Amino acid sequence: MSQVGAGSAAHALLPVPSDPNRVGHDWLDTLSEVPLFEGLSKRHLGRIAKLARIRRFASGSVIVRTGDPGRSFYVLLDGSAKVMRPGRRSLRLGAGAFFGEMALIDDSPRSADVVAEGDALALTIDRAGFAKLLRAEPGLAQALLRTLAARLRAAEAAV
Ligand code: CMP
Repeated sequence: MSQVGAGSAAHALLPVPSDPNRVGHDWLDTLSEVPLFEGLSKRHLGRIAKLARIRRFASGSVIVRTGDPGRSFYVLLDGSAKVMRPGRRSLRLGAGAFFGEMALIDDSPRSADVVAEGDALALTIDRAGFAKLLRAEPGLAQALLRTLAARLRAAEAAV
């Protein structure tokens, strides 16, 4: 299995907020460590937090399923997940990596299963919030495109 994004050692997961729909200011330091959000000010991170929920996924749960419509975008905050594509090698995504963007960008079905490897914690943003974020944060859109280009190169090199 190859690795995409930073790995994370086995440790207790970050705690889920009591109301997962309220991602408060205490999360901003965690969000500032996500490569996708690099360079964003606390004010901008606060805007992202307003659009986001924090969700915990039990080990082995299928976070997104191949063929399903895309409803949310995910950023792994803790733990790791496996991207499982039919007939392809699986890939590991570590803390800080994102997934679920493809179905939202091109309005097509999910291209792969993404499965929690051990318990995992993710920030999720719904379709409307994701579109809003891409419009409002060109730096973030650029960072997302850079990662997509790197993933495309890696996928081509693996053929
Ligand atoms: P989406 O198609 O919405 O749902 C499955 C997700 O798996 C996909 O978005 C990407 O985020 C991720 N994914 C699919 N293929 C790859 C790949 N080759 N490398 C990294 N992530 C991938």
